[in-house]
Amino acid sequence: MNVEKIVGYQVLDSRGRPTVAAVLLLSDGTSHTARVPSGASVGKHEARELRDQGTPFAEKNYRGTSVFAACNNINNLIAPHVHGKYPDLLKTDYFLQTLDSTEDFRNIGANATLAVSLAIAKAQAHAEKISLARLFQPEGKLKMPMPMVNILSGGAHAKKTMDVQDVLVIAHGAHSFSEALAWISAIREVAIVNGAKLGAPTHLVADEGGLAIPFKRVEEACDFVVSCIESVGLQPGRDVSLAMDVASTQLYHEGSYLLPNAGAKYDAQSFRLFISDLVKNLPLVSIEDPFAEDDWNSWSEFMEDAPKQLQVVGDDLYTTNLKRLEKGIAESASNAILVKPNQNGLVTKTLEVLKAAQAKNFNTIVSARSGETEDSWLADLAVGWGAGQIKVGSTHGSERAAKWNRLLELEATENWEFVSPF
Ligand code: PGA
Ligand code: ZN
Repeated sequence: MNVEKIVGYQVLDSRGRPTVAAVLLLSDGTSHTARVPSGASVGKHEARELRDQGTPFAEKNYRGTSVFAACNNINNLIAPHVHGKYPDLLKTDYFLQTLDSTEDFRNIGANATLAVSLAIAKAQAHAEKISLARLFQPEGKLKMPMPMVNILSGGAHAKKTMDVQDVLVIAHGAHSFSEALAWISAIREVAIVNGAKLGAPTHLVADEGGLAIPFKRVEEACDFVVSCIESVGLQPGRDVSLAMDVASTQLYHEGSYLLPNAGAKYDAQSFRLFISDLVKNLPLVSIEDPFAEDDWNSWSEFMEDAPKQLQVVGDDLYTTNLKRLEKGIAESASNAILVKPNQNGLVTKTLEVLKAAQAKNFNTIVSARSGETEDSWLADLAVGWGAGQIKVGSTHGSERAAKWNRLLELEATENWEFVSPF
């Protein structure tokens, strides 16, 4: 079975911004489409998505955010090498890597490479008559991931209604993925009712489907979510705990951490104390990007005194980049990594980063972006890779539900195990 055609074209993401899709037609008449996501709080060290700003395509197309150049690269540079061949993910990724001399794919665009890499992976799974998850784990029980779900949004996803980007929950007391999702959905619904009592516009949702309730202090936001957990009859710390994505890179300016809603400014040392106090005083089991992407020193110093059971997650710190992960391991900067395929640009290279992290006993969390599509490949990757955890945003929004629903389908149809990493 061979590739008859592959076409790159522009589609819209959940923020209404252009993104890249690739559709691949196989000789058996089937087609396989992959759409790539896009971030808002983008790390400096991520692979580069190609946008048309400043090019002849730009002016009339989505204020320069169009991705026609990336699509053209699929159609003109990549397609001729894929045509007529069996859809082989490893070989294709190897070829894509050699196509761009830069490490971050700035010439052909990581949005172009990832769309092709994913479409090939889907087509290969089809050719082998297995699911995308099973392409990576053909035998044995699949590991269903623990979901980390957004309840409150702030920062770059919600016009800074709150200083940190996400307050999330992890239902580690649940016995299955679907039970965890049901508990969290109940908490999310109660947050609407309780938020309305505070006079918040709870009919509005932020980029990832979370509620954008204005809270001046981070502690108040956390207390609110704790009260929502209690409102549904679950016990904070035993059944469900908090997680936070501080997204600190967004708060970092010339050596200081600025929290505009709290009206606070911290130097690196006092910000470490602020984060330590949050961890001490709240049922918080996971904290992501507590420090800025290049403030390595704060990460390592924080880890020295952090409670051993606390999950400290690098997102902007690592940007799913093997070299940065290796530095983080060498410097004991964290004990977990957020894994985002579009920060990397290739499926196999993303998996390489995840495996390298797991080999050093890091927890791994496969993650969506704030700009998503209806595509659900992330769910298959999280399961097939045995990531252990997944972060997709909230339970609201069909681009989020697409991933949850695919996980529910895998749970309903596959042999699985569900093990809490907490
Ligand atoms: P982004 O945010 O997709 O806007 O970069 C997600 C995250 O920081 O985890
Ligand atoms: Zn993050």
